Amino acid sequence: MADLFSLKNRVVLLTGASRGLGRDMALTLARAGATVLCAGRTVKALEATAKAISRKGGRAHVVPLDVTDEAAVREQVENIIARHRRIDVLVNNAGVLSREPIVDLATESFRLTVETDLIAPFVLSREIGRHMLKRKYGRIVNIASVLAVVARARVSGYVSAKHGIVGLTKSLAVEFGPDVTANAIAPGYIRTEINVALQQNKGFSDMLEQRTASHRWGRPEDLRGALLLLASDAGAYITGHTLVVDGGLSTVLA
Ligand SMILES: NC(=O)c1ccc[n+]([C@@H]2O[C@H](COP(=O)([O-])OP(=O)(O)OC[C@H]3O[C@@H](n4cnc5c(N)ncnc54)[C@H](OP(=O)(O)O)[C@@H]3O)[C@@H](O)[C@H]2O)c1
Repeated sequence: MADLFSLKNRVVLLTGASRGLGRDMALTLARAGATVLCAGRTVKALEATAKAISRKGGRAHVVPLDVTDEAAVREQVENIIARHRRIDVLVNNAGVLSREPIVDLATESFRLTVETDLIAPFVLSREIGRHMLKRKYGRIVNIASVLAVVARARVSGYVSAKHGIVGLTKSLAVEFGPDVTANAIAPGYIRTEINVALQQNKGFSDMLEQRTASHRWGRPEDLRGALLLLASDAGAYITGHTLVVDGGLSTVLA
């Protein structure tokens, strides 16, 4: 049964592999047998991820990339195809968030969040999707958020972009089927750099632990099962789906 979730001989492009959820995803994908192309802006941190993978006997390469730079995305996709001949799996994980009430939020800040969290996954999916469609194989996994399902104050750009990615995922599934699947994972609150302020806020932390069915913050490793399901042949008949992995946060009313 382990073969069902295997990524042996698969080439995976993972954005935001430098830290947080992306770093754990990179290690998980490599342990499942994939060659992981670790993309992001901070090359040193990407090299650390790649090194951690090779220390464990896996294969990884660093792909310096700002996902909001469309020309750079095109160039890197062509480089990867020339070098590796294919991208079997795309994981759109890179993301940013800014906290400000709508009345104080600059358009530029809203735009940067939408550019990074929604438009970049669109551009990457389009550029790589063309190759996947030609090869008649592909898995696209978009990292959404529980804030793609519910909203919260002071993160309107993020909520808008993450709700958008659920729609993008459905559109990709419709247009890229039957051989290329597209799905999203919607994580709840998982301790990483993106939410340090919330981790340090006792009121928020207590509220979260009380109203999450699992009574705790998530850990990066909580996403491993969902990721492998949607990235492997195990997920062949799942497409257009957003899999919420939030310990029950969005299920509990109070
Ligand atoms: N942690 C959570 O609780 C949680 C919950 C729901 C959803 N998510 C989503 O999960 C994803 C990862 O979040 P995280 O918690 O791991 O955040 P994080 O620790 O802040 O990491 C964000 C990653 O995105 C990369 N990134 C940001 N802007 C980029 C750009 N323009 N080009 C390339 N890479 C870029 C960063 O790398 P560089 O800065 O080096 O480029 C970094 O690797 C995000 O999409 C986030 O919205 C997180």
